[in-house]
Amino acid sequence: PIHACLFDLDGVLVDTAKYHFLAWKRLADELGFEFTEKDNERLKGVSRMASLDILLEVGNVQLDDATKIALAEKKNNWYVDYISSMDESEILPGSLSFLKELKEHGIKVALGSASKNAMKILNNANIVPYFDAIIDGTKTSNAKPDPEVFLLGAEAVNVSPEHCIVFEDAEAGIEAATNAGMRSIGIGSAGTLTQANYVVTSLADMSVEKLQRIMTQH
Ligand code: G6P
Ligand code: MG
Repeated sequence: PIHACLFDLDGVLVDTAKYHFLAWKRLADELGFEFTEKDNERLKGVSRMASLDILLEVGNVQLDDATKIALAEKKNNWYVDYISSMDESEILPGSLSFLKELKEHGIKVALGSASKNAMKILNNANIVPYFDAIIDGTKTSNAKPDPEVFLLGAEAVNVSPEHCIVFEDAEAGIEAATNAGMRSIGIGSAGTLTQANYVVTSLADMSVEKLQRIMTQH
């Protein structure tokens, strides 16, 4: 049985993945190369600096560390600007009712996000009270697919990995779950999230009953 659900934030609970993409694309535009949604899949779930490295690889651009730090900050300033006006309307369909249902069933809920902006987003979306533990980019030193973020989440709610399930929209995040010894549910397309134990289009397709049923089969 599942005793804890660990949620990625961007692209799973809130619709912020599009703002990350917009900000990275804006940076690529400035640097003078094309950056597509397909390229963007590789950035999902990946830390800010690691994302920049992938972006620069796509553009075949080499830069020194000081310039990279400045560009990452520039991207983040745009991103923070995009999310500054976000509110509950950016919560993805099904998220709230599923979080409520988990609470009713006594299943622990933890956040496992690479973002250093997670608290800002949770506050703007008004969903902080749903979490028993919040692990974000300010508390981790190893980016997904490293399992650190999910292992810290499991530890914080005192549930062993085999009784945890991870909800992720990123390949790196699904891999991180596997590396943590946890099962995972992909949010998005089964064609992209091939390593997930099960894939749904959104949390609107999820319920506690369905979750327990899926988990007895996978
Ligand atoms: C999440 C997103 C990534 C983002 C990372 C770091 O995992 O999926 O796209 O790069 O967090 O976010 P931050 O807000 O700290 O730049
Ligand atoms: Mg994500």
